[in-house]
Amino acid sequence: MDEIQLPKIGLGTMQGNTKKAKEAFVKAIQMGYRFLDTAQLYFNERVVGKAITESGVARKDLIIASKVFIHNFTYRRVKKSTERSLKRLNLNYVDIMYIHWPFRTYRKRKEKILKAFSELVDEGKIRYLGISNFTIKDIDDALKIYDKQIIVNQVEMHPWLQQKKLLKHLNNNNIKLIAYFPLMHGRINQVPELVKIAMKHKTTAAHVSLAWIINKGAIPIPKSVTESHLKDNFEAQNLVLDEEDIKLIDSIKYEKRFGDFPVIAPKWD
Ligand SMILES: NC(=O)c1ccc[n+]([C@@H]2O[C@H](COP(=O)([O-])OP(=O)(O)OC[C@H]3O[C@@H](n4cnc5c(N)ncnc54)[C@H](OP(=O)(O)O)[C@@H]3O)[C@@H](O)[C@H]2O)c1
Repeated sequence: MDEIQLPKIGLGTMQGNTKKAKEAFVKAIQMGYRFLDTAQLYFNERVVGKAITESGVARKDLIIASKVFIHNFTYRRVKKSTERSLKRLNLNYVDIMYIHWPFRTYRKRKEKILKAFSELVDEGKIRYLGISNFTIKDIDDALKIYDKQIIVNQVEMHPWLQQKKLLKHLNNNNIKLIAYFPLMHGRINQVPELVKIAMKHKTTAAHVSLAWIINKGAIPIPKSVTESHLKDNFEAQNLVLDEEDIKLIDSIKYEKRFGDFPVIAPKWD
């Protein structure tokens, strides 16, 4: 399989299962987004599939990622549910298929589950396995078992959850960090440091957060169904923050995790 080139920014699609969302995703692809993130859990793979078709952009120029959810963590269900995802997306393959959570159903049967993903790669149904919400221990365990490249780990990351330790571990293992909630689930204007830097560059706090994530070598996947936000977020990749800006954000001590997933979340690092 040829090497995958991940863009600097992607598009989150969670909660996007309406006509308005589909139209927004079509516009997003047409304005330049090439990396779309969906999941079985979002119940919008059909909407994303329609947007891909309507965008007119060639399939080979897009990177499409979905995620297998926790109730499908058996050898058979990983395979069957991936086939169903492909049908809903109207695609022959996805570029990345994630293990959505390292839930106990995964941990109990990880050898068989990882074997199923490896076979999906051999069958040409997925290009790469991705992992999501994996702790350092989960990553190390998976690396010992999986016989192919694990390309990404998708976790919450933003200026209030900087993931310094995890990022270092991922870099050492050649795994990219995909940052979810890069706009703090819509609360981005509450960070005084970002607002200050935004004023200096005559831009928005959203821009600054996304540019900082990109500067750290991670890939943010902001979600939006609002055209002006889509445009604004996409342009964030052109904002160059200076050393002083980066230092100021790096020095933020306050920590807040917005994703509250009480039953399925692992014991975070
Ligand atoms: N792997 C996982 O377990 C996991 C968990 C959670 C999320 N995710 C992924 O991460 C993606 C992003 O998460 P998210 O959508 O909850 O959080 P987010 O991207 O941090 O924030 C989205 C919110 O910010 C608003 N927004 C977007 N652009 C903006 C801008 N430029 N200025 C001000 N507000 C803006 C959006 O409203 P509008 O739509 O009106 O623009 C929406 O309310 C999801 O869509 C999903 O793909 C993955």
